Amino acid sequence: MSTFSHIRGLGFYVPELCYSNKDLEKFVDTNDEWITTRTGIKQRHVVEDETCLDLTYNAAVKALANAEMEAEELTHILVGTFTGDMLIPSTACQLMERMGLKNRVAMDLSAACSGFVYALEVARALINLHPDAKILVCGAEVLTSRVNWEDRSTCVLFGDGAGAAVLTAGNDSEPGKVIDTLLSSDGGPSMNLTVQGSGSSFPYKMGDTVGDEYFIKMQGREVYKHAVRSMTAISNEILKRHNLTAEDVDVLLPHQANLRIIEAVGKKLGVPREKVFVNVDKFGNTSAASIPIGLADARESGFIKDGDLVLLATFGGGLTWGSSLIQF
Ligand code: UT7
Repeated sequence: MSTFSHIRGLGFYVPELCYSNKDLEKFVDTNDEWITTRTGIKQRHVVEDETCLDLTYNAAVKALANAEMEAEELTHILVGTFTGDMLIPSTACQLMERMGLKNRVAMDLSAACSGFVYALEVARALINLHPDAKILVCGAEVLTSRVNWEDRSTCVLFGDGAGAAVLTAGNDSEPGKVIDTLLSSDGGPSMNLTVQGSGSSFPYKMGDTVGDEYFIKMQGREVYKHAVRSMTAISNEILKRHNLTAEDVDVLLPHQANLRIIEAVGKKLGVPREKVFVNVDKFGNTSAASIPIGLADARESGFIKDGDLVLLATFGGGLTWGSSLIQF
């Protein structure tokens, strides 16, 4: 009996306040038609009083309930995020405290939108090292705290939310098996997608105020091309590695950044549109939360059924990208 990592439970949480494209029209020079045709986004959830920790906690509670497990059983907590409440302590350590736990391994992981899939692979490695590990893997972001609401080319794209998965070891025949993950990154084109403020290359000096470097900046076209190329290539690679083809894929769940990117990746891979999961219309781009929100949403809605082979494809700042195969 081989040891595999299995997803035992999934959950997601988004704040209640929701801005439609029409709402944004009131304070940004944009319109519903542009946002819909260029991105597929119709609305996004936005925090009022809640923080990244609150979103992560609520998603974690749901994932644990879905796994029929108690927080007490967890051995490791991993959180993919770049918009945690603070630089130190990590969101994972704060989450451990919120859940009433002590003496666990807790850490945040920074791989921008690929944060959850990167953390999933770290969890898989940890389970191989420690087969008794019970690991909470979260992706959570409050991106609206890092968008420049005067920059229409970025502020319409992002939303807030969190998703979580509970992983433990299992055997080959059990559902939720993470068959494999492939990751990659390239620092060359990294300046196409940045959040520079709070980093040491922008030291705070007396009298400074927050400037443009504090916000998400993106060369949209460049990022778009790289996203389509890299997600397609790494998805093909992982399928090939397991002697699978697009025909074997029951559900393709790409990072929910832009409907045009999602559809282009599906088309290039040869996965029919009806097998491609989309919820970018409801949540916008939630970065590291996008894949776990997608998994939980697709499972809850029945889009991912028992026995389905699910192909994840992710992409984000770094630049980072990756792909996972999961048998539900
Ligand atoms: O999760 C991280 C990964 N991020 C992504 O995957 C995002 C990748 N990039 C994209 O999704 C697209 O590049 C965008 C949706 C960001 C932009 O779409 P685009 O087709 O590349 O548009 P553009 O930036 O070339 O802008 C076209 C026009 C410009 O006007 P002119 O110069 O042609 O007159 C912009 O000023 O659209 C204008 N524009 C807007 N108009 C109304 C830009 N943003 C807006 C807006 N509303 N919000």
